[in-house]
Amino acid sequence: METPVIELKNISLTAQNMTIVQNVQLSIKDGQTAAFVGPSGGGKSTLLKLAAGLIVPTGGEAYYRGQAISTMNRQSNLNFRRKTAFVFQDSALWANQSLRQILELPLKIHFPRMTEKQRTARIVEVCAEAGYRRELDIRPSQLSMGEQKLIAFARALVCDPDLLFLDEWTESLDDASARRLINAVKKRQQAGSTIVFVSHNFMVIKELAQRICMIMDGRLSMEISGKEIAQNEALAQMVQKGIAL
Ligand SMILES: Nc1ncnc2c1ncn2[C@@H]1O[C@H](COP(=O)(O)OP(=O)(O)OP(=O)(O)O)[C@@H](O)[C@H]1O
Ligand SMILES: [Mg+2]
Repeated sequence: METPVIELKNISLTAQNMTIVQNVQLSIKDGQTAAFVGPSGGGKSTLLKLAAGLIVPTGGEAYYRGQAISTMNRQSNLNFRRKTAFVFQDSALWANQSLRQILELPLKIHFPRMTEKQRTARIVEVCAEAGYRRELDIRPSQLSMGEQKLIAFARALVCDPDLLFLDEWTESLDDASARRLINAVKKRQQAGSTIVFVSHNFMVIKELAQRICMIMDGRLSMEISGKEIAQNEALAQMVQKGIAL
């Protein structure tokens, strides 16, 4: 049997005596796109971070291609990070760095032999793909929330990852900008990347997700396929209502 790209085995997170994620079992195969949907505060962002190994679980484990993420050695972890990218719900850009420095850092870490000229060319390319056209020698505080999203997305693409975690990455964007980011994700989908995303936008979910995982009260309460949503109006309405709760 094919080893999943990401596997969550009975994963839980308890913080400050509160259970945020509870016994989630989920495996995501190579090339699949899965969406986490559900009400605000339900645990979607936390689960996404657990799946990406950004938070160490208090119960269970997250695996990347069969390897437990929390106990990976340095080399395996570097390899995992090189192939993975994460867009945070709040963009999470470094406040004290310029946009250029923010975009350069992953390249400096993962492609240390790249020349400055090559790095600049790559940064220009991903900014164009994300639709960011303003200058790069400014800090995140000088950007609108939407522009911060574009830079966060450009940073995610800069090392050409094949596993993308995207948390509400089209929120606070105008329609044309959101469309550009959706198309960029579609392109990666078609090239075989694995994508796990969180969205409250039913149109985005319908267009991209092959699997829809409803997350409520920290649990995986239901899973539906994209096909079922396309064919079953009642189910589509239910997911849409769940998203709007
Ligand atoms: N480190 C933490 N310590 C304590 N509580 C936390 C922590 N991280 C998240 N929470 C809480 O866990 C719950 C789930 O948060 P999470 O951000 O995962 O929800 P979400 O489904 O992504 O919500 P939204 O749709 O609003 O983004 C919230 O009640 C949040 O306050
Ligand atoms: Mg969230």
